[in-house]
Amino acid sequence: MSSLKDKVVIVTGAGSGIGEAIAKEFGRNESKVVCADIKNAEKTAKAIEDAGGTALAVNLDVSKASDWDAAKAKVLSEFGRIDALCNDAGTSEAVEIVDLKESDWDRIININLKGTMLGMKTVIPEFLKNGSGKIVNIASEAAHVGLEGLPSYSASKGGVIAMSRQVAMTYAPNNIQINVVSPGIIKTPILANNSPEMTKKFTEATPAGRLGKPEEIAYMVEFFVSEESNFITGQAIKVDGGWGSR
Ligand SMILES: NC(=O)c1ccc[n+]([C@@H]2O[C@H](COP(=O)([O-])OP(=O)(O)OC[C@H]3O[C@@H](n4cnc5c(N)ncnc54)[C@H](O)[C@@H]3O)[C@@H](O)[C@H]2O)c1
Repeated sequence: MSSLKDKVVIVTGAGSGIGEAIAKEFGRNESKVVCADIKNAEKTAKAIEDAGGTALAVNLDVSKASDWDAAKAKVLSEFGRIDALCNDAGTSEAVEIVDLKESDWDRIININLKGTMLGMKTVIPEFLKNGSGKIVNIASEAAHVGLEGLPSYSASKGGVIAMSRQVAMTYAPNNIQINVVSPGIIKTPILANNSPEMTKKFTEATPAGRLGKPEEIAYMVEFFVSEESNFITGQAIKVDGGWGSR
């Protein structure tokens, strides 16, 4: 997409899975890609640069406000501006509510929900200065339907959708668009947190009859970051092989 060239795009969770695919897609589209993660950010940034793109690796724990402040300073020093943010970093558990540990609830809410909040809070002041900006937050099918074994994860992702809608309405007059992509079951390392039976069950529940590919989420994120989606804000779109439409 031509409107992605030279845009400074921060992708959290860029070290693995969906975030890695998103970062590499932006690299292919000649964006300036900030690969942010607690691990493997350098690996993804190097792969983008080896393929001829422009990338910056940032070690960022999305749940820490001080890490966001440092990341913002590093990006502004390197590229001078921020045009878009994809909050992809996330984690999950596989436990029912009666066995859920308070510490696991806190960890998952802090990464998936608080991390998304901190990311938006960090970049929106830059977008206001620029007169435009794009945020794409990654939620999940679990935000839309009740899936077994995912109480804190479902709560965090439902919160991401509600918060994104609220923030999108606030900043729509400022030419800032905020949308959500809710993946179905996608083949990435996060599936190791599920039992093989759970993954099999979710795949069988998907009308497309297969796991999604990380790139299939990246294409939707790119559309939401492109100028072609400038009149869309506050939406949550499922990219799920039909799972949530049954
Ligand atoms: N794979 C799926 O089936 C699926 C389905 C729905 C939603 N999602 C969502 O997609 C996103 C990406 O998941 P994935 O499948 O690529 O998983 P993944 O485990 O491959 O990648 C997640 C990345 O997030 C990073 N991360 C974790 N905690 C972090 C923190 N505190 N700060 C910064 N980075 C952190 C990890 O280091 C990792 O690189 C997550 O938000 C996940 O909830 C995935």
